[in-house]
Amino acid sequence: MGNSVEGLSIIVTGSGRGIGRAMAAGLAAAGANLTIADIDQAAAEAAAADILAMGGRATAVGVDVTDRVAVRRMIAHSVAEYGRLDVVFNNAGIAQVRRFGDITEADWRRMMDVNGLSVLIGIQESAVQFIAQGGGGKIVNTASVAGKRGSEALGHYSASKFAVIGLTQAAAQSYAAHRITVNSICPGIVATDMWDAIGKGFRNEGMTTRDDAAFEQALTGVTLGRSSTPEDLVGVAIFLASPGSDYMTGQSLVVDGGMVFS
Ligand SMILES: NC(=O)c1ccc[n+]([C@@H]2O[C@H](COP(=O)([O-])OP(=O)(O)OC[C@H]3O[C@@H](n4cnc5c(N)ncnc54)[C@H](O)[C@@H]3O)[C@@H](O)[C@H]2O)c1
Repeated sequence: MGNSVEGLSIIVTGSGRGIGRAMAAGLAAAGANLTIADIDQAAAEAAAADILAMGGRATAVGVDVTDRVAVRRMIAHSVAEYGRLDVVFNNAGIAQVRRFGDITEADWRRMMDVNGLSVLIGIQESAVQFIAQGGGGKIVNTASVAGKRGSEALGHYSASKFAVIGLTQAAAQSYAAHRITVNSICPGIVATDMWDAIGKGFRNEGMTTRDDAAFEQALTGVTLGRSSTPEDLVGVAIFLASPGSDYMTGQSLVVDGGMVFS
């Protein structure tokens, strides 16, 4: 028992930068063996090199998480490197700001593919590996506070994150008999490249006049009075990857400094 991730083989998707990179670095510092997976292979290699330089264990792999064949290759890469797979973080995602009336079918499909379908595939393919090797496994998805409360200007993004929470609950029930747990993390306002893009999106849509205005506005709803750093998500990531969370499944933990009370 306990909260140790020492020696666990862990994949984090979207870990070339941002939240995924910080979670991967934190898990590696706690003794886990990391597979850094990202569509930006150069970023994945740089993140893995950072972990190696700190004395941790990491390998990098390029993956488009919407592509089932590529996801299988990512899992095979991790198993070839570490001999087994213990935990998968389905973290890669995208955001897009659009006035609700202007969301197109193409916007919807792209958002649902990258944020929703990818999580379905990630869960299914992780479960195939966990069941084949035996002994259970853990899946942790990155949802969002936008998956708890629909967010104006992020309608299709919010829908995709509600989908992640729904998939988390359904998969928890589907795989419980194999001792596979499935949970999610719901971050709040995290200072990453994604929020730079969201801030620009608000201005492009004519909803703000400065790139950082939407970020500042969002922070007024944070009880703890500051934005989240990617590192603020590390503690819960370690907990959900560790045996300490063995009796939790189907949950979506909000780590947002107190924006959404549920
Ligand atoms: N930043 C926030 O405030 C915030 C809040 C709540 C939830 N989230 C969620 O956290 C996750 C990480 O967000 P972030 O802020 O670190 O974003 P980010 O844009 O900084 O990083 C996302 C990473 O995912 C990768 N990626 C994108 N599409 C991919 C694909 N098809 N296949 C593989 N990799 C892909 C990118 O290359 C990038 O490295 C996302 O799921 C996001 O929706 C972010």
